[in-house]
Amino acid sequence: MTGKRTARMFAIAAVAMAVMSSCDRRDDQAARPRVPTPAKGPSAPAAQPAATAPPASTDNSETAQSPQPGAAPPAVNPPLLAPRERVRPSSAEPSTPFHERIAQGVIAASPPARPDDVLARTAAMDKLSRLAELIDAPAAGLPWGFFDASTGYDPAAYSLIVFEPMIWTKTCLSLFTFSGAHTVRGEGKFTVVEIAAKFRAKLPPGDYPYPIWHTSRSWQSFVRTEAILLVFNGEKLLAALGKSAPNAAEGEEAPPKWDGKWTWSDGLGRPQPRGATFAFAFSEENPELGAVGAAYSALEPKLRAYNCLSCHWPDNSAKAGRQVVLGYPTHALAVYESLVPLLQRKDLKVDDPHADRSGGIPDKAAREELIRLAEAFQAAADHAISYEVARRAVE
Ligand code: HEC
Repeated sequence: MTGKRTARMFAIAAVAMAVMSSCDRRDDQAARPRVPTPAKGPSAPAAQPAATAPPASTDNSETAQSPQPGAAPPAVNPPLLAPRERVRPSSAEPSTPFHERIAQGVIAASPPARPDDVLARTAAMDKLSRLAELIDAPAAGLPWGFFDASTGYDPAAYSLIVFEPMIWTKTCLSLFTFSGAHTVRGEGKFTVVEIAAKFRAKLPPGDYPYPIWHTSRSWQSFVRTEAILLVFNGEKLLAALGKSAPNAAEGEEAPPKWDGKWTWSDGLGRPQPRGATFAFAFSEENPELGAVGAAYSALEPKLRAYNCLSCHWPDNSAKAGRQVVLGYPTHALAVYESLVPLLQRKDLKVDDPHADRSGGIPDKAAREELIRLAEAFQAAADHAISYEVARRAVE
């Protein structure tokens, strides 16, 4: 773990330099580094014009939310070293408590917008992905789902989909806009940050992270969302829950038609939902985009062949408490670190779905190959995420 962290800090320092030089002139096409073609969704980055040049790119959400912008030292050009430490606003805002800072950061990053405003959503994705304190607050994957008053605030009582935290801010949290109303309160042993929220209900279907309209209940949960609850134990983020109104509001947006397709292509043959592709979730200039796409494309057919996707799919057919979706690229990042250790475990019982078995991983050789592919995915994902971590600090 320590070695890995050290490696990541090196990557961060190196990447920060690359990002700094590329982001000085974000409006200058020629100055941008090459964008590797991802293995899946080759032209998807081009479909995100807003990511290239939001005019407000001088805005830094960390400083923008500071209550005393002039007083603290957050430099326009942050120093190159240890950006992860630098972006933590704690030193700049000692007077704002942690949970309040989290709420303010989220609210500032995704302000009210029309429900079909794709560009506003893209701008929010970028800002949310820089909220270091929020993204670093979960222990590993961040469980996400919907609140139920009769179940209460304990995340362990829910069946929740796990996301890599940065990916969650970009693909899920950005689906909501925030007016500013919020509370921080204790609920038993938990601290709950409740942020009034409104769902972006009219985005193109492929811009959602999966067909959230696959049941009417699922769509209703999203479209009736009134608030996002962030459930903490101290400063550790345990889960994020949408809180929905029990009944339909007037003029409630109807869901896209559910045709049973979890994946599809748009008119130009690009894979959909693009909201679950790496090209959508990572920044356009991320130099690891091609590598992580290639690694997932090599791994995915094996996951399919060994029946992993029969359970690890958004319909949660395994009824797992901790739901892991491996069938979409971005969702699979939730377990990029736990996949290899699981496949290497020696103590799996014969009836464990992850043990060698017919209808699963057939034999030792197949397992070894799967481990090799999973290791390649882990390494590429780690590099791609490290790049985004470094990117938080600049611009
Ligand atoms: C019969 C259903 C089923 C099948 C088939 C299955 N899994 Fe799982 N998997 C589960 C359940 C259930 C869990 C535990 C979730 C939990 O903790 O509640 C799990 C956990 C995992 C985790 C750990 C996720 C974490 O929490 O970090 C990984 C990784 C994983 N599975 C990968 C695979 C792979 C790879 C395959 C195919 C070889 C596979 N699974 C096949 C049901 C299944």
